[in-house]
Amino acid sequence: MRVTTHELKAMKARGEPIPMVTAYDATAALIVDRAGIPAILVGDSLGQAVLGYDTTIPVTIDDMVRATAAVVRGSDKALIVGDLPFMTYHANTAALENAARLLQEGGAQAVKLEGGRTVVPTVRALTDAGVAVMGHIGLTPQALHQLGGYRVQGRSEAGAAALTEDALALQEAGVFAIVLELVPAELAGRITERLDVPTIGIGAGPRCDGQIQVIHDVLGMLPDFKPRHARRYAELAETMLDALGRYASDVREKRFPSDAESFPANSTKRASKSQRVSRDE
Ligand code: KIV
Repeated sequence: MRVTTHELKAMKARGEPIPMVTAYDATAALIVDRAGIPAILVGDSLGQAVLGYDTTIPVTIDDMVRATAAVVRGSDKALIVGDLPFMTYHANTAALENAARLLQEGGAQAVKLEGGRTVVPTVRALTDAGVAVMGHIGLTPQALHQLGGYRVQGRSEAGAAALTEDALALQEAGVFAIVLELVPAELAGRITERLDVPTIGIGAGPRCDGQIQVIHDVLGMLPDFKPRHARRYAELAETMLDALGRYASDVREKRFPSDAESFPANSTKRASKSQRVSRDE
C-alpha cells in the first residue's frame, strides 16, 4: 500500500518533516523507495536531468507519462506525483485530459502544476474531478522567460504578500501540498505557519514542512552543476567515472571478461534470472 496524500497532511499535523525527491526511472524509484522516502515527484526537471535540455519547457506530456509509469513500476510504497509539463494545463479541458493520462497511463496518485491564483480555476476543475493536486509557487521554472531567470521570488513586500495570497488561494482550491521554490526562508516559514496543507521547500529554508530535491543534485550525478540550495550526499559522477574508466581499461587490456564471467559449452551453471543471456545458451 502506498503512502497517501492524507498521510502527508498527517505528517505536517504531527510536526514530522517530509523528505521528498525526484525520480524519472524505475531503478531510481526502487532505490528511493528502499531508502524509505515517502513521496516521489516525477518532475519535469526530467528535461534537464535526463533529456539534456536547458530548461523544462520542451518536456511533453508523453515524456511525463512514460517516466511516471516507469517510476510507478519501480516502486511500491512511495506516493507518486506526476508533473504536468509546460502548456498542458492552461485550459481546463487540457488539464483534465492530461491529468487523466498521468493517473491512468502513468499510474500516478497525484499531479503537480505551477502557478498561484491564476491556476486556481484549473486546480478546482481537477479537484472537483477527484484528482489530488500539488501546487508549486515561488520560482516556477516553466515561466522562466517571463521571470527573467532562476531568481529568488518574494523578496519585496509586495512579492511576499502575493506569494502568501497565492498559497492561501491554492489551499482553498483544494491542493494537498504546495512546493515553495526559491523563496526567502523567513517568508516560507510564515506561509508554512498559515497553511494546514504541507509546504515542500526547495531553496526555501528549513521551516517548510518538507524538502524536495532533484535526485541528480543530492547524489552528485551532474559533475558540473551544484545549485546553492542542494547538498550532495554522494559523488556518483566521480564514482561512475572511476568505475567506467576501470571497466574500459579491463576491456582494452583483455582482463574482462574472465573465465568465471564466461559460459563454456559444457557448463551446467545457469545464468542468474536477472542476467541478460543470449538465446542459444
Ligand atoms: O520538476 C521538478 O523537479 C520540480 C521540483 C524542483 C520541485 O518541480
